[in-house]
Amino acid sequence: MPLSAVAAGALCFITMISCVPADSFISQTGVERDVVAARTRNGKCNYDIDEKALIHQGYYKKVFEDNFNTNLHNWKIWTGGAYNQELQYYQSSNLKVQNGKLVITARKETVKGATVPSNPQLKTFNYTSGRIESKTYFTPTKSFSKVRISARIKLPSGYGMWPAFWTYNDPWPTKGEIDIIEAQGQYPFQYTTNYFYGSQPNIPQTDATKITSLITSNVSLTKCYHVYEVIWTKQSLIYLLDGKIINKKSASTPANKYIPSLFGKLQRITLNVAVGGNYFVNLDPSKIHPDAMYVDWIKVFT
Ligand SMILES: *[C@@H]1O[C@H](CO)[C@@H](O)[C@H](O)[C@H]1NC(C)=O
Ligand SMILES: *[C@@H]1O[C@H](CO)[C@@H](O)[C@H](O)[C@H]1NC(C)=O
Repeated sequence: MPLSAVAAGALCFITMISCVPADSFISQTGVERDVVAARTRNGKCNYDIDEKALIHQGYYKKVFEDNFNTNLHNWKIWTGGAYNQELQYYQSSNLKVQNGKLVITARKETVKGATVPSNPQLKTFNYTSGRIESKTYFTPTKSFSKVRISARIKLPSGYGMWPAFWTYNDPWPTKGEIDIIEAQGQYPFQYTTNYFYGSQPNIPQTDATKITSLITSNVSLTKCYHVYEVIWTKQSLIYLLDGKIINKKSASTPANKYIPSLFGKLQRITLNVAVGGNYFVNLDPSKIHPDAMYVDWIKVFT
């Protein structure tokens, strides 16, 4: 979920075989080359991690946890519009902690509010939704250290929903951004992984058309909970779905040479449901169907 427009919206991608139709999710991120490698047969409905086993091996230590049993004291709540031509106004009333879950609900409602939090100029929005960002920041700090960021989530299924689970810091993208989930509600079996980096504000040097990976699950991601994770090290970003590695981005490949630039840069965890925006191509606003994302827990291990 970049904070400014990127090439993600440009679209009919020429592959070795064919030009993918512009309204296909695949074409929108230009990730055909990764589809086969990333296809998983391991998705399991209502999977949960075996945290004890993870810690017992002595390999991981839990450094952050929110099971959403009380309130959002670990989080900063975003109030205002966002970027990427998204249609929603983010406000706290679209965030609820209930039955041990965080529920982020997008709604069709007209409100007037700040264009973005840093720009109070009033704008009229046709949708509202919610976004939270962790008060704690994370990064790997030694050459062989790792940060494993995990969440158990049920994705929203409505057309035009753009749920995201990601990390970043300001000024974007000089501290990097790691996208663990970006999905489109109308494609319940798919999501993408990605990262961004650039040494100057608002100028990503990463090429989204080469490093975005489309993950295809064999079970719906919107009907039940799944565990999404990234293991971030100096040299790689390893993504897991329900405990299985489904995507590896390694700094040894030219397109991923910026991964080491993320090393040591503190990032905060972000969860949100955007409505519309330039992650979609040819979005038909009349078909938008607001829905909710459910988050059971977020955990960070190092
Ligand atoms: C998905 O893959 C898992 C693991 O191979 C398998 O147990 C499950 O039956 C598959 N689900 C579907 C819907 O095909
Ligand atoms: C909100 O909806 C109205 C009526 O459909 C439309 O004219 C307007 O452009 C929309 N506003 C935004 C910011 O999308």
